[in-house]
Amino acid sequence: MCGIVGYVGERESLGIAFDALRRMEYRGYDSAGIAVAGGPGLAVVKRAGKLANLEDKIAEVGSESLNGTTAIGHTRWATHGRPTDENAHPHVSYDGKVAIVHNGIIENFAPLRDELTQRGIELRSETDSEVAAHLLALAYNEGETAGDLRASALHVLNRLEGAFTLLFLHEDHPDQIIAARRSTPLMVGVGEGEMFLGSDVAAFIEHTKEAVELMQDSVVVITKDDFEILNFNGTPAEGKPFTIDWDLAAAEKGGFDSFMMKEIFEQPAAVRDTLAGHWDGNRVTLDESNLTNDDLKSFDQVFVIACGSAYHSGLAAKYAIEHWVRIPVQIEVASEFRYRDPILDERTLVLAISQSGETADTLEAVRHAKTQGAKVLAVCNTNGSQIPRESDAVLYTHAGPEIGVASTKAFLAQVAANYIVGLALAQAKGTKYPDEIRQIWDELESIPGKIAEVLGAKDQVDHISETLGAVKTMLFLGRGVGYPIALEGALKLKELAYIHAEGFPAGELKHGPIALIEEGLPVVVIVPSPRGVSQLHSKIVSNIQEIRARGAKTIVIAEEGDTAVEPYSNWLVRIPQTPTIMQPLLATVPLQFLSADIARENGNEDIDKPRNLAKSVTVE
Ligand code: M6R
Repeated sequence: MCGIVGYVGERESLGIAFDALRRMEYRGYDSAGIAVAGGPGLAVVKRAGKLANLEDKIAEVGSESLNGTTAIGHTRWATHGRPTDENAHPHVSYDGKVAIVHNGIIENFAPLRDELTQRGIELRSETDSEVAAHLLALAYNEGETAGDLRASALHVLNRLEGAFTLLFLHEDHPDQIIAARRSTPLMVGVGEGEMFLGSDVAAFIEHTKEAVELMQDSVVVITKDDFEILNFNGTPAEGKPFTIDWDLAAAEKGGFDSFMMKEIFEQPAAVRDTLAGHWDGNRVTLDESNLTNDDLKSFDQVFVIACGSAYHSGLAAKYAIEHWVRIPVQIEVASEFRYRDPILDERTLVLAISQSGETADTLEAVRHAKTQGAKVLAVCNTNGSQIPRESDAVLYTHAGPEIGVASTKAFLAQVAANYIVGLALAQAKGTKYPDEIRQIWDELESIPGKIAEVLGAKDQVDHISETLGAVKTMLFLGRGVGYPIALEGALKLKELAYIHAEGFPAGELKHGPIALIEEGLPVVVIVPSPRGVSQLHSKIVSNIQEIRARGAKTIVIAEEGDTAVEPYSNWLVRIPQTPTIMQPLLATVPLQFLSADIARENGNEDIDKPRNLAKSVTVE
């Protein structure tokens, strides 16, 4: 949710922390701040709003007042307390000596606040986080742990309930940062003569490729030359070392004006890399996932749990898996799943889909599914994150880092990964012949090239937003696997352009939503392939006529050569011919462009950071 960074070294830490926050900003942009030590004293600068506001503030106070070789920084997605300067992190203790940054929620902050108030300590913010700064100062200044920073930090951490990543910086110990994690992520970056901390590796990717992931309930003390990991009781603990395989370019815009646009253009590679290694020439393989053929054979139902775009990818998978494997697939938004008492057992495969691997709703749903005896397979883009760690098996998407808050390439990679799972199930259960599986696999492998064609024809979409005029509401219609595409298109438009948008199954329109259609209302229609055997194509052509008759302006996404839709399209966007089941991998792309264009027409220039959102939602 929030982005956290830390640095101890010999260089000026302000610039390093600021650049790290720039890369972390996708995790939240309600406010940002940095605390520096190791110079004249402890200095803190913070500001509500995006990082640009913090930059202005630094210029105002003068960077020379923020000299020092140790820094902690924070970019916030507000939970407790509005996005104001006071509520921005770092928070400073009553004696001015401790600065803390926090990601997560301290659930017992109310009694802790009361306790501090009774001690005469005045809390300056509305946050749950500030208590940690005062508690550390108290523990360091008096009582059994007085004068011992490490013991004081452990004492405080053991009093906190909830989920947190916390970094502590003390003016009298500018050579170290003490940090802890419970449920929210924290990585150590191991440099030469310098150490880094980050909510994810993007925080320090420009300085080192060597990282250590902290495990649940771990504390780490970093100095410029070393790091030491402990349990919450102070005994030694292990982290998980790894080498970062994302390069710096992947975390930069690479000449595009936004991360999102760059990521849209990375979609052929995202799908290609996700498929890579899962076909051995004859068979679909799930080798790295930790699922055996016997496991796959044993499942008699699939339950998909996910949120947002990941949910839409799962909905596409429902159509594919039921069609290929002939077992029921249920799908539910993760935030509803565990409160509904779903019926699962050891013959249930739960597919938990998450780009970040951190989404609290999905994580809790995974935990619930495991208590019911189901086997959980995570489809995830972030190596070593919590959801794969707690799942029985994992299939990684290889989309690379997705920085734009609105999901694009990760969504397409999820669809591809879900389809790999579907084909592996069909293969294990023998519901498709090997040559049918090979044929579907060949179709999948042709998709990256087809996505590249859609990207190359971006100008088809460019003129739509220019001629559309002001849009207040937009509808998206699809049938079959076109329905999840409609939902994803509507979500992108809401997120980026702040326009009311709804996705509907086209056949459902006449059961109510058609009342929304009025003269000039733009409606996007995703048209299935006319070459399919089902009657979906002719049905949707009828639906288009019904809405046109009521004054709607239609933006039709249809495959090349589909002439039946031409008379009923105000704007026609062509995608390459492909079996309808593969359409989510192609038809979503023009909708991503369309949302970005309309967002800009509406004056939202910063499509990477839509208002009120955060990339990973680590609170329920
Ligand atoms: O990291 P996750 O895939 O678990 O995130 C799920 C949703 O929060 C995410 O897809 C969200 O809906 C995006 N903003 C969509 O663009």
